Amino acid sequence: MMVSLKQVSKAYHPNSLVLRNVNLELKKGEFLFVIGDSGAGKTSLLKLMTGEEFASSGSVSCDNVVFAQGSGKMLKIRRRIGVVHQDYRLLKDRSVYENVAIPLFFGRAGVGVAPVNFMGRGAQRLVEDAVTAVGLSPKVLDAEVRELSGGEQQRVAIARAIINSPDLLIADEPTGSLDHDHTWTVMDLFQKLNIKGMSMIVATHDRDIIRKVRKRTLHLSAGAVRVDDREGACIF
Ligand SMILES: Nc1ncnc2c1ncn2[C@@H]1O[C@H](COP(=O)(O)OP(=O)(O)OP(=O)(O)O)[C@@H](O)[C@H]1O
Ligand SMILES: [Mg+2]
Repeated sequence: MMVSLKQVSKAYHPNSLVLRNVNLELKKGEFLFVIGDSGAGKTSLLKLMTGEEFASSGSVSCDNVVFAQGSGKMLKIRRRIGVVHQDYRLLKDRSVYENVAIPLFFGRAGVGVAPVNFMGRGAQRLVEDAVTAVGLSPKVLDAEVRELSGGEQQRVAIARAIINSPDLLIADEPTGSLDHDHTWTVMDLFQKLNIKGMSMIVATHDRDIIRKVRKRTLHLSAGAVRVDDREGACIF
């Protein structure tokens, strides 16, 4: 999916910009890391691209559809974007199965993938594949999310985000609660999905990941783009 930000600024309160004049053109199939100190604006930037927040000035578009409040076209595009929130946003009193299967309920609007029966055989297979891909045992499917550790919950959120094979995955610190091995299970999975054509935007604090996975890296500082490093060379 193509993503385009033109002169984007964001203020949650008048006179206090958290993003300043951000320009970004992402081609279909590209992989982008977003880095920067805590408070630099990474989550705010990602929320503009998921349509959860809107730019205060400038424009955000995906596949040439401009994101604006109430846009029907935008809602269709959003169904082709998988999102891993920094705070997971799982339904804690529901089972892992129900959480991961939720996107199947909606299908992928506009790309010919019909919603599948939530509890049917086809869905069960997809749910099992998604949890296995993030290194969880299918045994956890019946557990309530609240019974899982933080790292396990984070991986449930990742499984939910990829189950519909989105065209774009936007992941906000998706390995923030994971140990070394699970971090690499997830990063290897992201690279595999990217090779298959899924565009990726990943915010991270993890310098080890940036050093090892050489991809385009957008470095934010106080809401502005400090470096847009297309080679993904080591910038630390
Ligand atoms: N909903 C909101 N209302 C008001 N201010 C907000 C809101 N969300 C974020 N901010 C402010 O915007 C700035 C950037 O926050 P943001 O969450 O985008 O940073 P971040 O780079 O993701 O940080 P972290 O690494 O800690 O996740 C911060 O100063 C924060 O206080
Ligand atoms: Mg953040």
